[in-house]
Amino acid sequence: MLVFHQISVLQEHLKQLRNQGMTVGFVPTMGALHQGHISLINQAKAQSDIVVCSIFVNPTQFNNAHDLAVYPRTLEADSQMLDAAGCDILFAPSAEEMYPKLPTMKFDFGALETVMEGAFRPGHFNGVGIVVSKLFHIVQPNKAFFGQKDLQQCAVISCMVNELSFNLELVICPTQREEDGLAMSSRNRNLSPEQRAIAPSLYQALNNAKASLLQDKEVSEVKGELAEFLNNIEGIELEYFEISDFDTLQPFQGILSQNSGGGKIALCIAAFLGKTRLIDNIII
Ligand code: PAJ
Repeated sequence: MLVFHQISVLQEHLKQLRNQGMTVGFVPTMGALHQGHISLINQAKAQSDIVVCSIFVNPTQFNNAHDLAVYPRTLEADSQMLDAAGCDILFAPSAEEMYPKLPTMKFDFGALETVMEGAFRPGHFNGVGIVVSKLFHIVQPNKAFFGQKDLQQCAVISCMVNELSFNLELVICPTQREEDGLAMSSRNRNLSPEQRAIAPSLYQALNNAKASLLQDKEVSEVKGELAEFLNNIEGIELEYFEISDFDTLQPFQGILSQNSGGGKIALCIAAFLGKTRLIDNIII
C-alpha cells in the first residue's frame, strides 16, 4: 500500500492511474479503524480497480473540544489493517495540509440538518460537507463508500453530490455490529468495561421500538417506552430517539400500518455513556 501525506503528490499519482483507465473507489474515514471501516474497503475493492482510503480527524466537524481531544488516533495500526485488507492507497494529510487556513464557506443542508445530529451538534454537517467535498475534489473517485451507521451523514452527502453535480456514485453499506449487537464505532474504544457491557442496550432499545411499531403502537407511546427502558439502565443518558421518514429524515407521525407514503422508516438514537456519545439506527 502506498501512503501519501500531500495533496499534490497524491493527485499526480491518481492522475496516472486514471490515465491508464483505472477506476477509483474511495473510503473517507477518521481512522481508529474497525471491521465496519474494513467492510467499506471490501466493498470498494469489489467495485473498483484502485481503492483509496483517507484518514483525517477533521477538526471542522467537531463541535465539542473534548470529543476532538480524545478521538482515538492509531495511524500505525490503521495502516497495517488497510494493507492487510488490500487497500491500495492511504491518504493521511495533516490539518495544515487540508486547512492552510480555516474555510470561510458554509454548507447549509436545510431541513436535513435541523434534526438529530444536526440539531444536537451545531456546525457538524458544515464541517462534514467541507471536508468531504475537498476530499472528493482531491481524489475524484468513481465511487465513494459510506456506512449506514451514519444515516444522516449519508443523506447530507447524497444531497451535496446531487446539488453540486459531483461526478461520482455513492454506495451506502450496511452497519457492522459486534456479536452482542453494538454498532462498531471508533468511539467504542473510549468506553470503560462497565460502559461497554451496557452499550448494546442501544441496539436492543431500537429493536424493541421496531417491535412496538410493528404492533401498530403510536409513535409517542413507542418513544415513551424507549425512554423508560433506557432510564432503567444506569450509565446511559438518552440524547434523542427519533422515528423518521428515511428519505427526508423528518419525524414520522401516527402508526406504521397507516404510513400513507409507504416509504422506509428510520429509527435513530443518540446517547451518552459517560462522556462518550454513541449513535445507531435501524430501518423498517
Ligand atoms: P468515520 O466515523 O471514521 O467513519 C468512516 C466511514 O465508516 C463512514 O462512512 C461511516 O458511516 C462508516 N462506518 C462507521 N462505523 C461503521 C459500521 N459499524 N458499519 C459500517 N460502516 C461504518 O464518518 C466519518 O468518519 C467522517 O464524518 C468522514 C465521512 C470521514 C468525514 O470526516
